[in-house]
Amino acid sequence: MSVEPALQWPAEGNARVPYRVFSDPEIYHEELARIFLGPTWQFLTLAGELPTPGDYLTTFIGETPVIVTRGKDGAVHAMVNRCAHRGNLVCLKRRGHADNLTCVYHAWRYDLEGNLDSVAFRRGIAGKGGMPASFELKDHGLQKLAVDQFGDLVFGTLSPDAPPLGDYIGNQIGSRIHRVLHGKPKVLGTTSQILHNNWKLYFENVRDTYHATLLHSFFTTFRMSRLTSEGGVDIAEHGMHHASYTRNKIDRVGAAASDQLYAGIPSLRENFRLAEPGFLSMIEEFGDDTTTQILSLFPNFVLQQIQNSIALRLVLPKGPDKTELQWIYLGFEEDDPAMSALRLAQANLVGPAGYVSMEDGAVGNFSQRALPGADNQASVLEMGGFDHVSEENRTTEASIRGFWQAYRPLMGF
Ligand code: FES
Ligand SMILES: [Fe+2]
Repeated sequence: MSVEPALQWPAEGNARVPYRVFSDPEIYHEELARIFLGPTWQFLTLAGELPTPGDYLTTFIGETPVIVTRGKDGAVHAMVNRCAHRGNLVCLKRRGHADNLTCVYHAWRYDLEGNLDSVAFRRGIAGKGGMPASFELKDHGLQKLAVDQFGDLVFGTLSPDAPPLGDYIGNQIGSRIHRVLHGKPKVLGTTSQILHNNWKLYFENVRDTYHATLLHSFFTTFRMSRLTSEGGVDIAEHGMHHASYTRNKIDRVGAAASDQLYAGIPSLRENFRLAEPGFLSMIEEFGDDTTTQILSLFPNFVLQQIQNSIALRLVLPKGPDKTELQWIYLGFEEDDPAMSALRLAQANLVGPAGYVSMEDGAVGNFSQRALPGADNQASVLEMGGFDHVSEENRTTEASIRGFWQAYRPLMGF
């Protein structure tokens, strides 16, 4: 590893995380290469976002700009958004529809699969100038990603070493994706927010089953979720992915004992009541009694079900201490008006100013601001022990340890 001075991971393994990984620019640049351009699958879009051949949108893998298209062959394609001529961005818009992809700089034209179709003034003018005879269009296409789908979720990778997508996700986490995405997804809306912290601080937060009912007063106060509720965490064998779940109708210790355990927790607002309690009603749609399921795929994708609020989250690194968090709020084509209305109302739980997720946008920055001077120190992740295995319990940091279990070999730490 080229990071200097070399990072020594503490002997406690995944139960310690050196703070330097959240601030060091060299480590950040290694992550872009080894993780985001490495053998991982990253979420690109929902297939339904590109219904017609010629539809395209732009996104990122890591910080690398990417174009995703619906080709004339009807398949989804993805390529790096960087002209093969002199490196200009080919697609400038977030989304659009086009017959071909033409670079604005010198008008090199690519087809919807990224193959170079034509070069302006390739033969020069009146026998002078132009490209040499040795220049072949086929050698100068856009750099292509491998693309695959898991249901309606489209993923891409630039690495030939990524395992097949189905193996990457695995059955245990895959079935938890299917559980939530049980219909034809319909996008209800999107938001985006800039987090002023390292991308991994947010991803740790997503996998942190311990914090939810301590940091988020809304959860605890209105009994949406407590650590005393039944629940647990599923962790993929290799640690990469996780799904935590809550069954809040079942309290393991009873309401009175739960109140006693939370009595000293500062986020509990004992006397608060909702003016509109129907806001938290739930329409049964999943065929089980799980009221919340938060799922993450390594390195930067989240699928959330909180009651009837379903959302995808994409965590895009924008520098060592800056992250873009994109939210895609979902319903299904099959939803009736009552369900659509409830999903939209419960979408207020999440997003940049969500009743529950607002604090997650803040706490990452609180951590980032405490990093200066901590280069030789490490955080402590011993809640629930040292393992990263599935358990029927959320008083644990096991799924965060799983993240580091996946991260360290990729980074050579
Ligand atoms: S940089 Fe794209 S055509 Fe020249
Ligand atoms: Fe949270």
